[in-house]
Amino acid sequence: MKQYKLDKNKHYKNIKKEIKNRLKLRFKCNWIEVLKKLESGRNYNFKNDLDFMTKIEFELTQILKQIIKKSFKSIEFPANIRISHNKPPKGYLQRPYATDNIHQDSWSGEPSDSYIFFMYIFLYKKCSYMKMFYKNSKLNRRRKTLKSYKELKINENDLKKYDFSKKSGNAILFDTNTPHKSVRGKNGIRISLDVRFRLKNPYIKNKQIYSIKEFSTNKILKQGKFWHPPTKKLSTFKNKLNYEYEKIQEIGDAKALNLRSNYLKYFEYQ
Ligand SMILES: [Fe+2]
Repeated sequence: MKQYKLDKNKHYKNIKKEIKNRLKLRFKCNWIEVLKKLESGRNYNFKNDLDFMTKIEFELTQILKQIIKKSFKSIEFPANIRISHNKPPKGYLQRPYATDNIHQDSWSGEPSDSYIFFMYIFLYKKCSYMKMFYKNSKLNRRRKTLKSYKELKINENDLKKYDFSKKSGNAILFDTNTPHKSVRGKNGIRISLDVRFRLKNPYIKNKQIYSIKEFSTNKILKQGKFWHPPTKKLSTFKNKLNYEYEKIQEIGDAKALNLRSNYLKYFEYQ
């Protein structure tokens, strides 16, 4: 687990500016009014805006390349830009993988070579936050997918808290066996970004191409959310798709191509 201060980083600033502009455009008002609308419960789903998310991905990969020593071969697309309100959405806490419970991402089936990168972007003083804990040897041994995060009874007092202060531009990188949870705030909203990346090729597991089920039809986790990280600036989703198909050609297996086109069918309706 490692943390970073990115408030002066050029690419972080670009992401922040892009999000701000996108929201002003969406709500057709100035920033102060955007914040008021968000405070009153409005939201915006950045995920559906694929051209926008392609631009964000480019900036994000620049940050990751600067801070990560290991080379990574897959990145989740689109990244998650979340506007968190203090009250959970209706029915959220009943979900098996509600992040209000202490959990490790390996328990929801995230691949073992994957990492999570999280950063705070816009914050209110008393907004929700991420609570991080040091790895715990007992929990570390539990790596199988659970039906629900509540399946394990975890006493928070048995874990040692890891200090990660809530401040815009603060970011953290951790692997799938790191305990954490989200803590609801008292008032105000939080805008944060999180993304997963993997060290291995997005199409291959144990030297074999993934099955359709693992890649695009599995309910819990679809491996198809991982794509090749862009090595050049791509500004539209169409460019991104073309780039992905070029990279798939390099694998030289028609099955990989089939996986991606199959995944796109589900992806369109997400
Ligand atoms: Fe998590």
